[in-house]
Amino acid sequence: MKFFVDTGDFKEIEELSATGLLDGVTTNPSLIAKAGRDFKELIGEICRIVPGPVSAEVASTEYEGMIAEGEVLAKIAENVVVKLPLTMDGLKATKYFSTRDIKTNVTLCFSANQALLAAKVGATYVSPFIGRLDDINLDGMDLIEDIRTIFDNYAFSTEILAASIRSPNHVTQAALAGADVATMPPAVIRKLAEHPLTKSGLEAFVKDWKSTGQSIL
Ligand code: E4P
Repeated sequence: MKFFVDTGDFKEIEELSATGLLDGVTTNPSLIAKAGRDFKELIGEICRIVPGPVSAEVASTEYEGMIAEGEVLAKIAENVVVKLPLTMDGLKATKYFSTRDIKTNVTLCFSANQALLAAKVGATYVSPFIGRLDDINLDGMDLIEDIRTIFDNYAFSTEILAASIRSPNHVTQAALAGADVATMPPAVIRKLAEHPLTKSGLEAFVKDWKSTGQSIL
């Protein structure tokens, strides 16, 4: 499973990229607003330090505007993925970019039929939002499972990018369901490494090692 970080915080991206765990980055207009940075400049900087795919979302909701904005975003760097909403205009724009070998991420996917449409227009990634479905008392993970089955039935190459991930448990469940990618907030990525037995075990090892009075170096 590939790991993307879902943030517009450059410092976080830099730190996580240095761990070797990061395969890519996703952003959205809300995250860009939170970052308070110039959008295109920030995407350019991220693309320079992360060699993997970096999703940059169009702001327009109309086909023509999506094409114009997507063209600008795609020119920022080779690893930019144009992120488009799952609407009829967004799907049409996805087809436009996929026929021109520009990578796309179709976002705000909440149903298996929507994912099927994204795959049919040749999306590189489709982003089912797990957490937002959970928020309205549905099971986001059922959606990942359904999409996996459908994509395997027809050998679609569109990758399932599990998004709106809120907890380490979401990551485990998405991996079990066969999501190709999980995009997570930085805090969730860090939490994946944590376990209380690792913490207490290490504390004991450090204490016992100190008692030997030895040094490895
Ligand atoms: C995905 O690409 C989105 O940016 C993101 O995962 C949305 O997450 P949220 O529902 O926590 O805002």
